[in-house]
Amino acid sequence: MTIAARPWLDEIQAYRPGTRSASADGSMASNESPLGASPKLGDSIAKALAGVHRYPDPLADELRSQLAGLHGVHPEQILIGNGSDELIFLLSTTFLAQGGHAVCADPAYQIDRIGALSVNATITQVPLRDWKHDLAAMAALRADIAYIVNPHNPTGTTRSRAEIDTFTAESPAHLVVVDEAYIDFTTDPEALTAIPLVAGGRVAVLRTFSKIHGLAGLRVGYLVADSAIIAAIRKVRAPFSVGSLAQAAALAALADTGHREAVREHTLRLRGQLVDLLACHGLHAVESEANFVLLPVPDENAFVAGLRTHGVSVRPGSALGAPGTVRISVPTEAGLELLRSALHHTHPANHRETANHR
Ligand SMILES: Cc1ncc(COP(=O)(O)O)c(C=O)c1O
Repeated sequence: MTIAARPWLDEIQAYRPGTRSASADGSMASNESPLGASPKLGDSIAKALAGVHRYPDPLADELRSQLAGLHGVHPEQILIGNGSDELIFLLSTTFLAQGGHAVCADPAYQIDRIGALSVNATITQVPLRDWKHDLAAMAALRADIAYIVNPHNPTGTTRSRAEIDTFTAESPAHLVVVDEAYIDFTTDPEALTAIPLVAGGRVAVLRTFSKIHGLAGLRVGYLVADSAIIAAIRKVRAPFSVGSLAQAAALAALADTGHREAVREHTLRLRGQLVDLLACHGLHAVESEANFVLLPVPDENAFVAGLRTHGVSVRPGSALGAPGTVRISVPTEAGLELLRSALHHTHPANHRETANHR
């Protein structure tokens, strides 16, 4: 390479995606929907196929207005992106570039960190407290953007809407971005969406179609924010970043509330069974409100490698900024059985688990 990358990129370690196992059921590394997408998407995608020689609707107006109705905001307060990851990069470009400062948790959602560093901003990571965002410590720091991931990735822990409201009032951050990728899987009645706080002008909320809607492969996410924030971001976005098939699929997914309910019911039920199964092997997961659990383990690499030989792939915590842990996505029913059998071989019993790691 004769051209040098910009020097501040030296600080970035490229994102390490989860690896798949040989089977879909054994793949528990990327927090994808165990039940897949709505079976009703096919017709909408087939219809949209006829128009793929045309550019997509640049702002995805139909989707935007459906989402505006759903959340009780104006369509100008919504921006659809090529996954919420694209929106995180756009937030960085718009509000952090060239010397801005972001505050987030440690461990952070990795893209928040990469997004900030990619535009030569600085980022301060505040260690979690009891696996949760330490909002009091974060509120003591000046920032252009404060990121709160709720439920957090990689821990699955939540903060209440009231806590986020208090944080917003106390923090000097110009913008508080609340990433709610996993909000559909919460059961805590206090862990409510921050969308009502958007009206105050300093809170923006990120959502994705990749989790409960099962559209990770189509790349659709959205930001709900003050219309002036959306207008600023629109200046720098690629105009056609969300394809027409993705827009059609997202609209159809939105209409299928039955599928969403089924995915939520499955996720909560299997999350409980996953936690119980791990506990039978002396492994205690962090209490999670998401579609995954974080598990502290004595030897992360050995744990990941052991499961892999039995057809189960999970995410090493080091790739998520949480060394000494692994993250396991809520699986299918068959996936849970695969994991049961893998743990039977790799962690035969509670007392032996303890003995093995002495
Ligand atoms: C907290 C969080 N935000 C955003 C995303 C990215 O979502 P998308 O697929 O919409 O880019 C993820 C994906 O795992 C996530 O965990």
